[in-house]
Amino acid sequence: MRVAMIGTGYVGLVSGACFADFGHEVVCVDKDASKVEMLKSGGIPIYEPGLDLLVERNVREGRLSFTQDLTDAVRTADAVFIAVGTPSRRGDGYADLSYVYAAAKEVAEVMDGYTVVVTKSTVPVGTGDEVERIIRETRPDADFAVVSNPEFLREGAAIDDFKRPDRVVVGTNDDRARTLMRELYRPLFLNETPIVFTARRTSELIKYAANAFLAMKITFINEIADLCEHVGANVQEVAKGVGLDNRIGGKFLHAGPGYGGSCFPKDTLALTRTAQDAGSPLRLIETVVEVNDARKRAMADKVIAACGGDVKGKTIAVLGVTFKPNTDDMREAPSLEIIPALQKAGATIRAFDPAGTVEAEKLLSNVEFVSGPYFCAEGADALVIITEWNEFRALDLPRLKATMKAPVLVDLRNIYTHDQAGNAGFEYTSVGRPH
Ligand code: UGA
Repeated sequence: MRVAMIGTGYVGLVSGACFADFGHEVVCVDKDASKVEMLKSGGIPIYEPGLDLLVERNVREGRLSFTQDLTDAVRTADAVFIAVGTPSRRGDGYADLSYVYAAAKEVAEVMDGYTVVVTKSTVPVGTGDEVERIIRETRPDADFAVVSNPEFLREGAAIDDFKRPDRVVVGTNDDRARTLMRELYRPLFLNETPIVFTARRTSELIKYAANAFLAMKITFINEIADLCEHVGANVQEVAKGVGLDNRIGGKFLHAGPGYGGSCFPKDTLALTRTAQDAGSPLRLIETVVEVNDARKRAMADKVIAACGGDVKGKTIAVLGVTFKPNTDDMREAPSLEIIPALQKAGATIRAFDPAGTVEAEKLLSNVEFVSGPYFCAEGADALVIITEWNEFRALDLPRLKATMKAPVLVDLRNIYTHDQAGNAGFEYTSVGRPH
């Protein structure tokens, strides 16, 4: 099967490489010449474990290629995936669909023969209808179907999520498109991955509802963590005890500094806008958005409290600035709220992140980035763990403490225990575990 993937961002590149690995012939198209050149010469513009090898193998075996030329890629394709960005529109929180619609128009101009146009980008309910209208208007004679096929990839685990998903969701009423989509994902059905065939609007909503539910789960446990601190309970044990109920499930119940990333903040906000416009507001999700925003700011106060109520003139060492481990992505990272708040309170920040430094330097000012955790801690008045990179899980705590000015450890991801930190001589603060 021949696939054109429009957009070589995170979703497009991972999906394109994985479809190629399923045996399809995939051409990834991007307008950005430097990105295409980089990909052609074997470089990968994003940080995603395993993606370089996957791309390299499929390029070598002739199933994956990159181009700026949309025409050729689309004309010969059986399926054209639109995987361009849908960022939050500045100011109002709606998803910006201009890239999706522009891609739809360009695809319409050149498609040839029956073509299935698939929206992979996260798009609000009704976007598929508009894509269909644009194509029909541009090419009244075209033979095509517009399908919604949302992605459920986590950064840092995207290849595994693509190849071993909990489910695939396909939204279309077109029988030919359904058959083609089944063929595209065939290797997954051999593994008995459930496929949810549904109407297009329903499929579009499934994506937002899934992300909103996960964001709500995280926010729920974060509020329970705050309560634990007030009543002397342990949030990790609460999460375990609650999550063992199959109806609830233990995943996404890790308390922390609030969710970030390119998806949850943007998608929860866009969903609340869709719901308000439809006259059916989602008050729960509106509250989740508010609580999560406030939480990121509150984490700076937690650090200040751990430092005795004042950080003026103090040096604070920060471990991890990306929104989660195994990515260099800084979008909506809690560190972007916490660090400036600490600076505003008078602290000097020194930081280390295994992959995020280049991105972080664009977004944070007056932060000294160093090359390792032990350097980072030297002479500091407090050490704050914001992102739970694996390499922070087994630090030599006595060694860290010995080089610091004051023995304050604030662990916003609960990767240590009170005993471990206490035995190393630290005054330890974590999330939702008061003792
Ligand atoms: C998320 C979803 O998990 C994917 O299924 C979805 O496809 C993707 O968004 C998307 O819409 O494209 P991602 O943003 O890569 O994936 O990362 P997650 O692993 O979901 O983490 C999101 C945020 O929640 C991070 O800041 C993470 O630290 C936080 N989180 C996650 C918690 O604070 N606690 C948890 O228990 C889990």
